[in-house]
Amino acid sequence: MYKIAVIPGDGVGPEVVREGLKVLEKVAIICGFGYKLINYEFGGDYYLKHKEVLPISALSELREMSAIYLGAVGHPSVKAGILEKELLLKIRFELDQYVNLRPVKLYPNVWTPIKDKTSQDIDFIVVRENTECLYTGLGGFLKKGTLDEVAIQEAIYTRKGTERCIRYAFEFAKNRNKRNKVTLCDKSNVLTYGHDLWQRVFHEVGEEYPEVEKDHAYVDATCMWMVKNPEWFDVIVTCNMFGDIITDLGAVIQGGMGVAAGGNINPEGVSMFEPIHGSAPKYAGKNQINPLASILALAMMLANLGEEKAALKVEEAVSQVLATGRIRDMGAGKMGITTSEVGDLVKEFIS
Ligand code: IPM
Ligand code: MN
Repeated sequence: MYKIAVIPGDGVGPEVVREGLKVLEKVAIICGFGYKLINYEFGGDYYLKHKEVLPISALSELREMSAIYLGAVGHPSVKAGILEKELLLKIRFELDQYVNLRPVKLYPNVWTPIKDKTSQDIDFIVVRENTECLYTGLGGFLKKGTLDEVAIQEAIYTRKGTERCIRYAFEFAKNRNKRNKVTLCDKSNVLTYGHDLWQRVFHEVGEEYPEVEKDHAYVDATCMWMVKNPEWFDVIVTCNMFGDIITDLGAVIQGGMGVAAGGNINPEGVSMFEPIHGSAPKYAGKNQINPLASILALAMMLANLGEEKAALKVEEAVSQVLATGRIRDMGAGKMGITTSEVGDLVKEFIS
C-alpha cells in the first residue's frame, strides 16, 4: 500500500494532476497494487490565506510518504521567488532529493523544431544535481540600494554532493544500457574551482565504470550539440544551474513543455515527481493544458516505486495516444482536444 502525497499546487497544476491520478487509478487496478492519496493544498492560495508556505509539520509528514506527486507552483499574486524557494526548493533540499532526473525523449508522432531529427535521435536523459550550486540561497547584499551596492550569490559544490550525483549518472547509464555513455556538462574553463571539483570527481568515479564511455562538453557547446547532434547524448550529468537551463532546451527539442517530465530523486528516501512546466496561470481552469508531462511524471513515479510494469504501461499508453494523432499540437491552447480528453484516452489505452 503506497502512501502518495499529492500537491496539485497553482494554476494548471490541479488539472494535470487530476489526469495523472485518473491514469493511476486504472493502472493500479490492472497491476494489482494499492495506494492511498494524501492531498496537500499548498501553493499560492494557501500562502495568501495562511501567510505560511509550508508548515514544518507537513515536511515531517512528507518524509513518511512513498512518493510525492506535484503539479506546479507559481501564483500571479505572490512575488516571484517565495513559492519557488519555500515550497519547491524547500522540499527538494529538505528531503535531500539530490538528483533531478529529466528525460529528453521525442516520442513518435511528436513534432520537433529540429529539422531531420526523429525519435531515434532524441532520446537521452539529464541528471541534474539538485541540492547545491547557485541554488543554496547563500549570499547577501552590502550597501543595498546605494550606488555602491554589492550583491553576492554564491555557488556551492561539495565533494559529497558532486560525487553522489555523478555516481548516480554512471549507474543510470549502466542500467539503461543504451549508448553506455555519460557526458559531463560543465564550465570548467571558467569555474576553475567548483567545476574543477566536478572534473576530478567525474574522472575518479568514472574509473569504477570502465564499460561506460566518458565524454565532456562545456555547457555552451552542450546547447549547440543538443540542437545539432542530439543523438550524441545518452546521459548528461551537470550542476543544478546548468541542468535547469539545458532541460528547458531539452523540453523544446522533445516537443515542448507539454511533454517534459521530471523526478526529484532521493535514492535512499522520498522522491517527488512533476511536469517541468510551470503553473501557466493564463490557462488555469480552461481544460486546455497538455497533461502528458504530468502523466509521464506519474510513470516515472511508478518506476521509482518499483512498479516497473505499471510504469511501462503508462508510457506505452502515452505513445499510443500520440500515435493516434488526436493531439494536434503539444502546446497549451493548441491541442485541438481537451485536457480531460487526453487523460481519458491515456486511460483507455491502458490494458
Ligand atoms: C525547474 C524550475 C525551478 C528550478 C524553479 C521554479 C525554481 O525552473 O524545476 O526547473 O529552477 O529548479
Ligand atoms: Mn527550470
